Amino acid sequence: MQATQETINEIISHATADIKYPATAPGLYEPIIYTLAGGGKRLRPRLLLSAFAAFAGDRPVEEALPQALGLEIFHNFTLLHDDVMDNADIRRGRPAVHRKWNAGAAILSGDAMLTLATEYIADCPADKLQTVLRLFNDTAMQIYQGQQLDMEFEHRNDVTVNEYMEMIKLKTSVLLGCACRMGAFLAGASEDACEAMYSYGVDLGLAFQLRDDWLDTFGDPLEFGKEIGGDIVNNKKTWLLITALDESDGELADIMREDLDPQERIRQVVRVYKRLDIGNRCNALVQEYSAKAIAALKDIDMDGSFRDFFIELAHKSASRTH
Ligand code: IPE
Ligand code: IPE
Ligand code: MG
Ligand code: MG
Ligand code: MG
Repeated sequence: MQATQETINEIISHATADIKYPATAPGLYEPIIYTLAGGGKRLRPRLLLSAFAAFAGDRPVEEALPQALGLEIFHNFTLLHDDVMDNADIRRGRPAVHRKWNAGAAILSGDAMLTLATEYIADCPADKLQTVLRLFNDTAMQIYQGQQLDMEFEHRNDVTVNEYMEMIKLKTSVLLGCACRMGAFLAGASEDACEAMYSYGVDLGLAFQLRDDWLDTFGDPLEFGKEIGGDIVNNKKTWLLITALDESDGELADIMREDLDPQERIRQVVRVYKRLDIGNRCNALVQEYSAKAIAALKDIDMDGSFRDFFIELAHKSASRTH
């Protein structure tokens, strides 16, 4: 019998807690242990193991566990660096690594996580190694490209919605696509199925990041586990900001040019968002991408309970609060 979501979650938590670290320079590993113990949704390893299980028949999901762990460690590495880049103090309801320690710790422990992640990813059958590593490395490079664009967009006020969609596809979506494709590929699914799973992950990722941007303005900080308003303060070009800049007849552009204290800036921007109904319209777009993700699964032959899981996950991601 194939694993249930409960067993998949347990397998991931145990394996994460059981990671062995070298004894030399333990200070290098403390921020990693702190980060991985901080929880998070474990979305990427859950996607990978579920995609594996959906096509693997009775083979145990543990076969794909190293790659699932590798993607989760890689994701957490990007968060250590991202919080430095975004000057974010709180992650998962606790001080970000660069605040609990310092930026040096976030950079170097992050580097160690990237290496650790690569080791786990490469721990796979020899006949699959080349494809798996290429997928992982291509995805990683796309994420760095997306993060670069995200930073560059802070200094531009003419970013289009298309540019934003391409940026979030790179920084966030391709990793979800990679998790889905890698799981299916390791299970031996057909190229068509792998491609469909990739499309599912990418569209889920677009919905996921659009919702993340909505939560950054309209979420509850206690539930979300991150500070609210950081995107506004950092001049991040979210769909919310780009659309409101375009429709507010110069009002938002004037606010952005003013030298306001952070809380006042957030208040004024939110006032414009509310007047233009930006929040609800953003969520309508989230729903669209979530529906698109579900549509990608339409013609793939896979285990029914995992198909149901992927569908439910896309629905839930569209209304998530953390
Ligand atoms: C945070 O990812 C970074 C984004 C892509 C928005 P998650 O929301 O998956 O973070 P955790 O791992 O659950 O904390
Ligand atoms: C993060 O985007 C994407 C990556 C970490 C690659 P955000 O900057 O919006 O993520 P959060 O909100 O800090 O989790
Ligand atoms: Mg961030
Ligand atoms: Mg960021
Ligand atoms: Mg965010």
